[in-house]
Amino acid sequence: MIPDVAEPVVRQILAAKTSATGLKPVVLDVGCSYGINAAVHRFPLTFGGLRHRYARREMRAISSETLVRLDRNFYAAWPDVGLARFIGLDVSAPAISYATGVGLLEQGIVADLETETLSTESARIIHSTDVIMSTGCIGYVTEKTFGKILDATEKRPWIISFVLRMFPFDSLAATFAKRGLVTERLTGATFIQRRFRDAEEFESCLATLATLGVDAAGLESEGLFHADLILSRPEADARATPLEDIVTVASGRGRPIGPRYVHIERGEGLQVALEP
Ligand SMILES: C[S@@+](CC[C@H](N)C(=O)[O-])C[C@H]1O[C@@H](n2cnc3c(N)ncnc32)[C@H](O)[C@@H]1O
Repeated sequence: MIPDVAEPVVRQILAAKTSATGLKPVVLDVGCSYGINAAVHRFPLTFGGLRHRYARREMRAISSETLVRLDRNFYAAWPDVGLARFIGLDVSAPAISYATGVGLLEQGIVADLETETLSTESARIIHSTDVIMSTGCIGYVTEKTFGKILDATEKRPWIISFVLRMFPFDSLAATFAKRGLVTERLTGATFIQRRFRDAEEFESCLATLATLGVDAAGLESEGLFHADLILSRPEADARATPLEDIVTVASGRGRPIGPRYVHIERGEGLQVALEP
């Protein structure tokens, strides 16, 4: 559930970034998988809604090629409410092929930069990246991947990281600092990533947190992985708008609570409507 939980915060950070430049930024989603972050950001869709679609037995029965064709139409049928354009990096070729095929990502790179060098073509794709983001990926990827990406970008991008609390961020922060980026961690809020797969994963996470001196009470001890929000960016940007001023976390916002009043922007002005 982390892409869903992260989205409102990603939106706030992208809005802050956009107000600095006035242009739609290019976001590189590292470990983008099938383009889920782009889907929940660009379209009025939630993980629950998507899950309902893809878990249907009729959907599970169709071929990948048919799914790409249907999903290209599905995503094109929603208004794009995104504040950014998305490109992605993942080690999985089928995931990137799907995400670019359905139009969630403008371009995709299949690579494992933990072990491989960045190709000239991939460097060209990420050259004008404004924002790098990742959910559920740090741990699989380290400062090796981020260092190679940063070396290929012409600007000094903002880096939005949702990182499980059991993964230390020191090496990444040091890699970013070498390139003139300062790192802030949002205090007072955590973001639920997912359930534990099994009892072994639960116990191993609690043991790791205990070794790190991180208190799991009321968080991971309740059976869910929690991530921190970490933002890295040029020092002048951080000084101008501190992270605490950009991000407001509204607890309970994603819960299904029945019909509610919303504003609809129409030609004749704002209208009030009841959304089911
Ligand atoms: C847990 S999934 C997270 C996917 C998505 N960001 C989300 O939050 O739902 C981790 C993703 O990282 C990708 N990944 C693992 N190792 C990687 C690497 N070395 N380089 C790029 N992507 C990698 C996997 O293929 C997978 O899509």
